[in-house]
Amino acid sequence: MIHRTPHPLRLLLPALAVLVAGCSDDAAERRRALGDAPGFADLMRVADADRGGRLFGRCAACHTIERGAGDRNGPGLFGVMGRPIAGNSRRFGYTTALRSVGGTWTPERMDVWLGAPTVMVPGTSMTFSGMPDPLDRADLIAFLQM
Ligand code: HEC
Repeated sequence: MIHRTPHPLRLLLPALAVLVAGCSDDAAERRRALGDAPGFADLMRVADADRGGRLFGRCAACHTIERGAGDRNGPGLFGVMGRPIAGNSRRFGYTTALRSVGGTWTPERMDVWLGAPTVMVPGTSMTFSGMPDPLDRADLIAFLQM
C-alpha cells in the first residue's frame, strides 16, 4: 500500500521557509551599500516599507495604523503623512507643545520626530525614547506613507 500522506516535515518546511524569509531582511546589506553617514534622500530611496511595518511593533502599544481604528495612549496614525502636526485625530488630546509646532508631517520632520520626540518637542506626552537608527526610521516612514 502506498502512503500518500506527506511526511510532517514536508508540510513544516515551506512554512518555516516563509517564516525565516519574513524575519530576515537585507538591512545589513543596505547599510553596507549606503556607506557612512548617508543622506536622508538616499535612505528613503532604499527604504523598505515591509520592514517598517515590522518596526511599527515598537509603536503599536500606543498607536493604531488601520483606518478608523482610533486612539490608544497616542493618536491613531492612519494617513498621518502629510497631515497637520497634532491634527491626525480629531478626538485626541494633544499637548500644547505638539500643537504649537505647526506645519505638516513631511518625511523630513517625521525623521526628526522619530529620532528623538522629546528633543524636537520638549513637553510632548509621547514618552518614547526614539529610534536612533536612520535606516530604521526611513523604513518606518516608508511604511507610514503606504
Ligand atoms: C508610550 C506610548 C507611545 C509610543 C511607544 C509611541 N508614541 Fe507616538 N505618540 C504618543 C502620544 C501620547 C502622542 C501625542 C503627543 C503629544 O500630544 O504631545 C504621540 C504622537 C505621535 C505622532 C503625532 C500624530 C499627529 O497627529 O500629529 C506621531 C506621528 C507618532 N506619535 C508616531 C509614533 C511612531 C511612528 C511610534 C513608533 C516608533 C510612536 N509614535 C511611538 C505615544 C506614543
